[in-house]
Amino acid sequence: MSVFKEGDTALLIDSKGRKYLIYLKKDAIFSFHRGNVQINDIIGKPDGLKITSSMGEKLIAFRPTLEEYILKMKRGAQIIYPKDISRILTLLDVFPGAKVFEAGTGSGALTLYLLRAVGTAGKVISYEKREDFHERAKINIEKFISPDLKDALILKNKDLSEGIDEIDFDRAILDLTEPWLFLDKVLAVLKPGGILGCYLTTVLQIYSLMEEFEKNYSDTLYKIGIFELLERKWEKEGLSLRPALRMVAHTGFIVIFRKLS
Ligand SMILES: C[S@@+](CC[C@H](N)C(=O)[O-])C[C@H]1O[C@@H](n2cnc3c(N)ncnc32)[C@H](O)[C@@H]1O
Repeated sequence: MSVFKEGDTALLIDSKGRKYLIYLKKDAIFSFHRGNVQINDIIGKPDGLKITSSMGEKLIAFRPTLEEYILKMKRGAQIIYPKDISRILTLLDVFPGAKVFEAGTGSGALTLYLLRAVGTAGKVISYEKREDFHERAKINIEKFISPDLKDALILKNKDLSEGIDEIDFDRAILDLTEPWLFLDKVLAVLKPGGILGCYLTTVLQIYSLMEEFEKNYSDTLYKIGIFELLERKWEKEGLSLRPALRMVAHTGFIVIFRKLS
């Protein structure tokens, strides 16, 4: 049975479905607009616990899933949303033991999923040019991953324009504004047959990337495709069963290439 321990992260969900990510510290109190919760009432109790705040609000405490964690963790840069991360993992075909290059690390959301996918036999090497984002990502990642995954991760506060120190990557993913400027650097360290993904938020960026590919890289890269994911949540209230009124309409595009030998 999974029991909450001091130092764990817990997700509290109130009666309206609002979510709060909290760190379990002995003798601490979680205060919100519907009262207080004594953290000592959570420590030592099992996952899925039902508790009541000092103002009578009913809450549930779960161990957060990685998706819940990345949506609630502190951000430096904007994260890639889980719906896109899921597709990036499948399009890149990230496997246990893979060696993956990433830039930029941002808040570390994608890095966390890549780490899980490569496992303890793999390696994720991630570059971030901004020191504050690099430090934020380090904290976010350390708070969530199990200690045995620490050796699978190398985070560097480094600008990709300075080059890549490591070699022989199976996979690479670029989530930065102008990936077309760095194709030569990434290709130099990607294995033949290796997969490269670029995550972009605007159509003009895709256009620039594809123009660069067509002009200078069609002999060294094979285009797999350009992808966009739409996710629509549904709701049931009484007799009404319909799509949710609000939707995250646009997040980004994923462009995938494979390296030719
Ligand atoms: C949108 S964020 C990445 C978010 C990240 N994928 C996540 O899920 O948390 C883009 C990041 O790329 C970084 N970046 C931009 N250009 C870079 C470069 N040349 N080298 C390294 N990092 C770079 C930015 O500082 C920013 O933190």
